[in-house]
Formats: sequence, C-alpha cells, structure tokens
Amino acid sequence: MTKHIGILTAGGDTPGLNAAIRGVGKAAFGYDMQVIGFRDGFRGLVENRALRFAADSMSGILTVGGTILGTSRDKPHRMQVGGKTLDMTDVIVENYDANHLDVLVCLGGGGTQKNALKLQEAGLNVITMPKTIDNDVACTDVTFGFDTALGIATDAIDRLHSTAHSHHRIIVCEIMGHRAGWLALGAGIAGGADVILLPEIPYDIESVAEAIRERVRGGKKFSIVAVAEGALARDQAQTLQAEESAKAGAKNKQDKKKAKAKLKRLESEYADNTLRLSRQLEALTGLESRVTILGHLQRGGTPSAADRLLATRLGTACADLIQQGEYGIMVASQGDQAVAVALEEVAGNRKLVPVDHPWIESARRVGTNLGD
Ligand code: F6P
Repeated sequence: MTKHIGILTAGGDTPGLNAAIRGVGKAAFGYDMQVIGFRDGFRGLVENRALRFAADSMSGILTVGGTILGTSRDKPHRMQVGGKTLDMTDVIVENYDANHLDVLVCLGGGGTQKNALKLQEAGLNVITMPKTIDNDVACTDVTFGFDTALGIATDAIDRLHSTAHSHHRIIVCEIMGHRAGWLALGAGIAGGADVILLPEIPYDIESVAEAIRERVRGGKKFSIVAVAEGALARDQAQTLQAEESAKAGAKNKQDKKKAKAKLKRLESEYADNTLRLSRQLEALTGLESRVTILGHLQRGGTPSAADRLLATRLGTACADLIQQGEYGIMVASQGDQAVAVALEEVAGNRKLVPVDHPWIESARRVGTNLGD
C-alpha cells in the first residue's frame, strides 16, 4: 500500500526548513510514498490548503531560505477563527482522513512539539523534526537553523568591533533565542564579545559596568556586549520567578488569571531591556553606548552547509521511520545518529544552557564577563 505523508512547517521560520522538506520528500519518493504539503502551519491543515508534491517538485529548494510551505504560529487547540478562539483539533482529524494520510510530519520548535503530541493523542500518527534558531528543543544535540543564525550573529559582532573601536563606544548587540541563551553565547564566544548576558545567568549591572571600566583602565576604550533577548537583571529575574510560582500555586481560576496577567505585564515591561541596559552602561561607565538589535535578520537567507546537512540527515531518517511505521516521535540528532525520541519526552521540556556548560567555562577562561 502506498503511504501518504502530510507535511507542514510551524512556528517561526528557520533556514534549513526547505532542506528538511526535500530530505523527507526525496527519500519518501524512493519508497513510492505520496507527499502532501499543507500551507502556513496548522492553519493550512484546518483550512485544507493542500499541495500535492510531484516527484520533481523537491528540486531546487535545498539552498532556499524560509519555507516553501509558509508557516504560522497557530495552535490546533487554540486557533483564532472568525474573531473567536476555537479548538480545531476535530477539523484537523477530518482533513487528515479526507487526505488519506498515514502520518503527519511537523517541522517545528518547542511549541510545535507540544501541538504535535496533542494531535498524536487525538489519534493521528505524527512525526516531528526539531527546527529553531534558538536551539532549545529537548532531547536533540542541535536544531536546524541554529548554525546559520550563529554565523549571522557572529558576523554582526565581528563587524560591530571596528566601529565600536573607532568611536571608543560600547555596542550592545541583542541576539535572538527567546528564553534560551545558546545563540548569544555561541555568537558571543565566536565573535569575541567582551560581555555575554544570558537568560540562564541573571546579570548584575554593576559587574558588567566594572568589566567595561576595567577594559578602559587597560587601554581598551570600546566594548562589545552580546545580550540574549531574554536576558534579565537579577531583580527582574527574581520578580518574574516569584510571579511564576504564584501562577503555579494559584488556588482558583481567578487567581491564576490575575497571575497570568501580571506575568504578561512584566514580560512586556522587560521587552526593551536592551535599551535600558545600554542607558545604564552609559551612565555607569561614562562611555557612549549604541544598540544593535539583529532581530529577524538572524532567520533570513540561505542555510549554512551544517544546517543543510543536518536537515537532510534528519529528513531522510524521518522517511525511514515512516517506512517502518514508527510514529509519536521526534527525529533527533544525537552524535552522528538520527534517533527516534518519544514526543512525550520532548514536549514541554525546554533545553536551556546549563550554567556549568563547557561553552560557559570557555567564555570565562578567555576573560568574558557573564554579568555574575
Ligand atoms: O523561536 C524563534 C524566534 O526567532 C525567537 O528567537 C524569537 O523570540 C521569536 O522567534 C520571534 O518571533 P516572531 O517571528 O513571531 O517575531
């Protein structure tokens, strides 16, 4: 019997998504399977916007950035439809059946793993692959998109050096990563940032300022600060943690709603932390400071060789697992191997930077200030 594979990309786009679609698709055609793409993440499956791939339609996409399928941050169980938030799981099940699918392949980050598990529990066969520039998906050594973004952020830090040096300035460079510091840490080390601030290590502004003043005393009148978008000062981290515990411990719906609203307020208050950090450093060091927010540049353009390789490895392994009838799993990269990990182990578990990680140790050994 010919197997029918549905495939979609969900969450923020990353370089390497097309390489992964091609990897699954070409290997699946080798097994005589049919491949049907759905547009714009889970929304395309709800709206049954399907694209049947012909065997040669997987050509020419390996090096292309973004996703040829389009993506969205829609969640199957909480989707905005006609101004209302609705659970569309049943519609997804209907469309899965209507397209005679044997399996749905979901390419996504942490949120997608949770959504995929929910669909598996609703009775679909689901396989996922880990993509995100944040590198924060559990149970996999690395996610595709990370290496490309790492290269872009490192290049930016390299370029910021000469202008910071010429003007004797501090330049604070904000790097994506959501609540994880992998990208800021990796690019900060590779680009030789003088200060690296991560969500995993709440910072003491005085420690950062003193590290910069120490450089000035040593004759270096410029500094590069690589700050993860989710980095927090110590007092902010404490406040946030207290509110998160209040939310977890809320006894009734009303208290939970209140705690949730407070958390949201705090998060939006902390959203312009990088600008605040820059102003504080100016005041504490007497140096001029500028801010560069790399933003979505980090997700754009052609994937690196490492991401193309990773996406192709995981994509082809995904087709093999489908052929073997293994579902309810994420295809993870562990060492040289592509490994099937149960979705239950992945969903809801974010992979943060351990504070004793070897990269942290190396950053400290080359004299980088980590804000603690
Ligand atoms: O998860 C990838 C990511 O790029 C994060 O680093 C960032 O916080 C977020 O997506 C930005 O999301 P959006 O594209 O919705 O602005």
